[in-house]
Amino acid sequence: MNIKQVGERELSTGSGKKRTAKKSVNGSSDMITLRNVSKSYSTGAPALNGVSLNVKKGEFVFIVGDSGSGKSTLIKLLLRELTPTDGEISVNGYDVVRLKRRKIPKFRRNIGVVFQDFRLLKDRNVYENVAFAQRIIQVPTREIRRNVPAILSVVGLAGKYKAKPKQLSGGEQQRVALARALVNNPPILLCDEPTGNLDPKNSWEIMRLLDEINKSGTTILVVTHNREIVNAMQKRVVTVKKGIIVSDEEKGGYIDED
Ligand SMILES: Nc1ncnc2c1ncn2[C@@H]1O[C@H](COP(=O)(O)OP(=O)(O)OP(=O)(O)O)[C@@H](O)[C@H]1O
Ligand SMILES: [Mg+2]
Repeated sequence: MNIKQVGERELSTGSGKKRTAKKSVNGSSDMITLRNVSKSYSTGAPALNGVSLNVKKGEFVFIVGDSGSGKSTLIKLLLRELTPTDGEISVNGYDVVRLKRRKIPKFRRNIGVVFQDFRLLKDRNVYENVAFAQRIIQVPTREIRRNVPAILSVVGLAGKYKAKPKQLSGGEQQRVALARALVNNPPILLCDEPTGNLDPKNSWEIMRLLDEINKSGTTILVVTHNREIVNAMQKRVVTVKKGIIVSDEEKGGYIDED
């Protein structure tokens, strides 16, 4: 597998149209924008407190910070799993805060998500776990049969399509989750500690895949505690502390806590 193959993927999303990078209404290259976003849960200090962030199309951004600093809250706000207490959020041209409930499923097609705990369907095999993401958006079976093997070979699992999750290693399960997040060819991929349950070798393999997927044009945000990977990859690094962005650096590193 090489970058070109990933870049040339033309997966159908059931609309009958090929997916190309979509320009937002104003033609801007912004993919994700937060303006003065705050989120308070019913208890405790605000999880996010006046966060502003801009991510352009095609960027790769690490989000780092202590446990409890607000990283997962940020991811949930981008997915519209939560709404902010205050502020504006725009994702691929959508006004996420004002989005009508009935429009949420269509909005979420813009975003692939990978979590630390894989979240695979235990009683379904690898093929079915990935195909499921296409079925819910009603991609025709004929196209699913073409798309699923294509994305499984991108993540290096073409030979394991019949295996159930419990027959796979942690690294392989995470690659299934990645294939499922990517099969609908979303312009954005959000990863919340995608290597949190993996050993160093598998962690690097997932990061290598994310890097290739990013080079094919997908905008990627990765929440991680993996200091070694962040320091080695030389990507943009946004550091969150107690709900505030305290640093945002191109080719940054993992900032040591005081
Ligand atoms: N559903 C909730 N109800 C109340 N408080 C919450 C809820 N979810 C998160 N919090 C609080 O909000 C703050 C931020 O949590 P969040 O999960 O965003 O942190 P995080 O940076 O992802 O941490 P970790 O690295 O441990 O995953 C924490 O103080 C947490 O206790
Ligand atoms: Mg978290």
